[in-house]
Amino acid sequence: MSFSGAGESVWAGPALSTECFRRDVLAGLSKRKKTLPCKYLYDESGARLFEEICELEEYYLTRTELGVLERNIAQIAGLLGPRANLVELGSGNCLKTCLLLDHLDQPASYSPVDVAHPQLLDCSDRLSRAYPGLAVEPVCADYTHSFSIPAPPAGSGRTTFFFPGSTLGNFEPEDAVSFLRRIARLCSPAGGLLVGIDLKKSPQILNAAYNDAQNVTAQFNLNLLARINRELQGGFDLEQFQHRAIYNASAGRIEMHLISCRKQTVAVDGHRFAFTKGESTVTEHSYKYTMNEFRRLAARGGLEVANCWTDERSWFSVQYLVPRKDRT
Ligand code: AVI
Repeated sequence: MSFSGAGESVWAGPALSTECFRRDVLAGLSKRKKTLPCKYLYDESGARLFEEICELEEYYLTRTELGVLERNIAQIAGLLGPRANLVELGSGNCLKTCLLLDHLDQPASYSPVDVAHPQLLDCSDRLSRAYPGLAVEPVCADYTHSFSIPAPPAGSGRTTFFFPGSTLGNFEPEDAVSFLRRIARLCSPAGGLLVGIDLKKSPQILNAAYNDAQNVTAQFNLNLLARINRELQGGFDLEQFQHRAIYNASAGRIEMHLISCRKQTVAVDGHRFAFTKGESTVTEHSYKYTMNEFRRLAARGGLEVANCWTDERSWFSVQYLVPRKDRT
């Protein structure tokens, strides 16, 4: 990650091109244990379905995180300081962003970083209009890799990365450590990372959150196959695959699968893939942490937990991380 010149929006072109999608899908389906990267769940339909998921009764994450932010917003805003530069990873939820911006002391700049052009532009437009004094500079990039952010405006305060929603839980732990290391470098010495982390809890509650009664999560998962059909000339019959999400307690994660309902062969972009009956393709991991596990993960990423807030049931946490003084 690096800074680009002041005052310009950073457009890295289509951050997830069809070519990357094709390469990743063909590679994932060629593995002995088939996988598809979860970042491709969020095309336009997927992003819409994810918004619906966030409203579901069973999906406690979004509403619990918002409650934690609301209850502690004065303290959080104080920690971020005056003339703050806010860099949001993902541009999904304007509600949480506005809550922060409304309580910050004269925020200087806001940069959402996202691969999804429509959401990025929509969110940036709305915020530019709502906060006339704020420099809004969207960055179209895949934040799971290196990316550039605009240089902070002259005279501005600390830079805080905002990563709500427990999206860090969708990273494999080793990838989470590398990601945190990059953020630690970028926000040093005085900035930080405000991150939402879902906490370990009863498997019943976790399984219900990813197997909702209205089957919205199932549609969200199956949309990945529909997307492959649309964009890569895939031949998936969506009736012949089933959504399954299950909490793997030993790994500490929800695993989302697409299960083949029968023995079948599916062509994608001229390549043929054989599926046995009951065979799984993993589409997402969603790691859940205890406070101590996350503290250790953050430390490996060169960050320490300066503050942490949670709800009364301790289901979800919002954590403010700062660079470790003894960081190598
Ligand atoms: C975006 N992310 C934090 C969600 C999660 O809970 O892991 C994605 C999701 N997958 C199924 N439901 C929601």
